[in-house]
Amino acid sequence: MKEKIKNIALTSDGSAVRIIDQTRLPGELVYLELREREELYEAIRALRVRGAPAIGIFAAYAVYVLSRSYGEAEFHARLDADIDYLISCRPTAVNLARQAERMRELAHGMTGRPASEITAALRAEAAAIHEEDIAMCRAIAEHGLSLLREGDTVLTHCNAGPLATSEYGTGLGPLLLAAERGMKIGAYVDETRPLLQGARLTAWELQNAGIDATLICDNMAALAMKEGRVQAVLAGCDRMAANGDAANKIGTSGAAIIAKHYGVPVYILLPSSTVDLACPTGADIPIELRSPEEIRSLWYERPMAPEGVKCWNPAFDVTDHELITAVVTEKGVIYPPYDIHLQELFGGDT
Ligand code: MRU
Repeated sequence: MKEKIKNIALTSDGSAVRIIDQTRLPGELVYLELREREELYEAIRALRVRGAPAIGIFAAYAVYVLSRSYGEAEFHARLDADIDYLISCRPTAVNLARQAERMRELAHGMTGRPASEITAALRAEAAAIHEEDIAMCRAIAEHGLSLLREGDTVLTHCNAGPLATSEYGTGLGPLLLAAERGMKIGAYVDETRPLLQGARLTAWELQNAGIDATLICDNMAALAMKEGRVQAVLAGCDRMAANGDAANKIGTSGAAIIAKHYGVPVYILLPSSTVDLACPTGADIPIELRSPEEIRSLWYERPMAPEGVKCWNPAFDVTDHELITAVVTEKGVIYPPYDIHLQELFGGDT
């Protein structure tokens, strides 16, 4: 990896969260400093910061930044209101709620202590969440790479790289690690309609890392697999249910179904912060619905659909666990039966 991307950080005085505005990539590398509750919320909602682990880390820093302005008497009431507000922003990725709730639990455990002390502890907790994600992504990259061979080409969907997480990413981690080690592993990159995270972000990250990346439209994945152009599908995850069903960007499930047809292995890579054992199956995962304009008009010089046409725009789908060859976490690679193996690995800590 040529350059480690710092997609989320606190400003040095701690007064704001600094992010790369991912909506401006790949054309412009623009940093934003966010401190107000509405702009912090909007950054998640508009996908300026996005990707399951990244929005969890961002929410943790956001809680700290907001907590700096709370008075003693109102501290917990305002903290609760702001955390509820941030969590309501996007429903599918469990990381957002999980990390915001972790911040709440810490603060509640310090009830009665001075606000300055709680705020300092919140800052340390947010940094710890970030550090943990860096370490988990590094371990996931290592385990994921053990499944690939020199000369392989993988199919990616959406963006599960450094922008969506920390440093190595999850789905892209094995590719970035391979590049660091001088191994040649290439990628076909699904552009990922409708918000083009593959075209705008994954292709940019892979290019920056000097990895051989070929952009395709999502509907070209079947031909790529039929012609033997890809040896594995690598995808991240927004929430994995207790039975191994995996919510990820819309289209992941389709890629996995095609992969099964052509005998291509499907690897889902995720940190433990994305496993939700409280969700029994994928049917229990809430799926975010987004604006019809993302399909009808966004990216086009003029609308590409008749005015007023009905649109259905689910942002995620669930890949059934039967379609997943292996799940890669920071604790290692697990194989079916996922209900048993996820419980064994994470039953104690998620
Ligand atoms: O809507 P997005 O761009 O936040 O969706 C992101 C994804 O679906 C990623 O693949 C997922 O969060 C895994 S990121 C490591």
